[in-house]
Order: sequence, then structure tokens, then C-alpha cells
Amino acid sequence: MDTKYWSVDKSVENHGAYPQLGEAAQLLRQHEVVAFPTETVYGLGADATNDEAVEKIYKAKGRPGDNPLIVHIAEFKQLENLVADIPDSARLLMKTFWPGPLTILLHVKPGQLSQKVTAGLDTVGIRMPSHPVALDLIRKANLPIAAPSANSSGKPSPTTAAHVREDLDGRIAGIIDGGQTGVGVESTVLDCTVEVPVILRPGGVTKEQLEKVIGKVVIDPGLQSSDRARPKAPGMKYTHYAPDAPVYLVDGSITYMQHLIDERRKKGQRVGAIVTEEAAGFIKADAVEICGRRDSLETVAHHLYDALRSFNQIDVDVIFSEIFPREGIGQAIMNRLDKAAGRKYLFEKEES
Ligand code: TXA
Ligand code: MG
Repeated sequence: MDTKYWSVDKSVENHGAYPQLGEAAQLLRQHEVVAFPTETVYGLGADATNDEAVEKIYKAKGRPGDNPLIVHIAEFKQLENLVADIPDSARLLMKTFWPGPLTILLHVKPGQLSQKVTAGLDTVGIRMPSHPVALDLIRKANLPIAAPSANSSGKPSPTTAAHVREDLDGRIAGIIDGGQTGVGVESTVLDCTVEVPVILRPGGVTKEQLEKVIGKVVIDPGLQSSDRARPKAPGMKYTHYAPDAPVYLVDGSITYMQHLIDERRKKGQRVGAIVTEEAAGFIKADAVEICGRRDSLETVAHHLYDALRSFNQIDVDVIFSEIFPREGIGQAIMNRLDKAAGRKYLFEKEES
């Protein structure tokens, strides 16, 4: 298939309407799949009401059929058709964080969406992205748009159109290039069908921000422990966000990381390192990728996937990464690193 490309400069002042998106919107209405930028990562969109269209998403990504998709809307009025029993707390969250990186899980109204979107569950995740290109595309298509991240299943999510192209060129109808995405990690997935809302995937809106608005929120225990509990978001159980070489998370000093690197290099291996700007000057490896600044974790979220993905262009046998505090956006960063590394940690021995 010939993949079409459109380039959109979102900073152009035109009241959020982009004439060049007309063709992409038309393709969506014809049940084709099109990749588009959101404020978190690039999404792979299709008409959420149509089985054939949604099937094309799973096929292009190689995504397991039991992993449901998020439905994207551009207007609050689209919501009433799609979900039932919206609790007051969920409405308050929508009012506060939409448009923005929060996906809210609610009971799905039967018969409105393709059953492939929900993978047979009775809930659906809905989000209103804040990227002007995403909003204009959804408005022009005039449909609820199912969209997972626009990567091949298992690869890090795309934060540029070039990443999408790497994975999906020739497999989808089109790619809208809107430049690099902002947040850099995906939306927070929050289950609002239960008394105390549960974070099924930490993301762009933090637990602390949610709790300021609605009080107590918990994190799915399946995300924290290694194997006892099963994560409730089907997508969270797969190895994910992973570059081709194995990733190890280094719990210790920079000197310890350098020691680990040196040991591997002595054995003739090529070593990659993911480090912050603060540490970069102290690390020598075959490839060093800077993932942002430790004193501003938002910059780490923004660069993380690009850093992980860059190792697929460089030949390394192993990758060592710094770790981060699990607070604020650090929750989302560590969740993605845990998954990229398959939770492989190396601990610096305590001095005794
Ligand atoms: O930021 C984002 O959310 C991006 C952009 C494109 O909007 N989308 C995205 O979609 O990350 P995806 O499909 O890559 O991740 C959706 C996650 C998966 O872990 C999936 O299992 C979970 O949300 N999910 C979706 N619907 C669900 C449901 N009804 N119940 C439980 N988990 C659900
Ligand atoms: Mg994804």
C-alpha cells in the first residue's frame, strides 16, 4: 500500500482548522487507517464504529486482539452516544483535564462502537486529545476515532512522524506529520467504573493532579508487583516499549553504571546508556543517549521513547538506563522503563 504524507504546522494561527487534513479525514470515513499527532504520542486512527476499519488497526500494528483501543473524541456531545452511567467524579475530571492526556474508562453503550474496539469488554476508554491537529481531524471525520499508539506492537510509542514511518510505512493509508509530540508518554488510563477510581496506566496526568480534583485514587496493584496480581489494562501485561537489545535499570550511582559498562566492554560487548544531561559527562559507552534533565522529569518523559528507539538504529548488545523517582510524571516514566526492561534491575551493593 502507498502511504500518503501530509505535513501540518500546528503553530500556524488558523483557528485550529487545517484544510490539508480534508483528505485524511475522507480516508477515515472510507474505513482506512491514518496516523496523526496527539499531545502524548502519535495515534493510529480508524472509524471506531466500523469493524473493518478497526480490524485494519490491529493488523497494521500486529496487535493482539484482546487489547482494547482508546476512543478519541473532539466534542463533549460525542460522549453521550458512547457511554452510560457517567459518575459526577468522571464529569469533573473531564471538565478539568479535557482536552488533555487523560483516558477515562466508563461503561460502553451497547451497539454504538465496533466490538473490536472494546475487545469484548463492557467498558471503553475515552479521551479528548488537546493537540489541535488531532481535534481538527476528528471534527472533519465527524466520527469517534479509535486510536492506539502508532507503533508496531511491542516497540516504543512514536513521538515523531519518522518513528511512525519506521514501523508502519506501506502498511497504512496515511501519516500526518505534525512535528514532535509534547508530553512524550501516553495518556493516563483511569477506571471510573469503580467506587475509588483506579489508574490502570500512569501517564500524562499524574495521580497527584487527579487527587487534587476528586480525592483518593489508587494505582492498579498489578502494575507494582511482579507477578501476583494481573494488570487490569490488557495492554499493560505485554513486554512493550522495548528496543531490540536488552535493557537493564541501574539502581545506584553513576560510578556504578560506568563500572557495569566497563565490565561488558571488557567482554567485547557494545554497550548503550540512557542517561540524563546531568550525568552524561561522566559516562563513557559505545552509545550514550540523553533522555532529558533529572531536575525536570517532564523533559525525560518528552525524550524517553526517542532515546529507547534510537538504539534500534545503533548496534549495541546491551543498554543500561538510569532510574527516576516514582512521583508525579516519574510514575509514568518508571512504568515505561519497567516494561522496556522487563523489570530487570541491577542494584549497587551496599557498602558495609
Ligand atoms: O496517549 C494515548 O493514550 C495514546 C494516544 C494515541 O491517544 N494512545 C494509546 O493507546 O496509548 P494504546 O492502545 O497504545 O494504549 C491503550 C491502553 C492499553 O494498555 C489498553 O489495554 C488500555 O489502554 N485500555 C483501553 N481500553 C481499555 C478497557 N476498556 N479496559 C482496560 N484497559 C483498557
Ligand atoms: Mg501503545
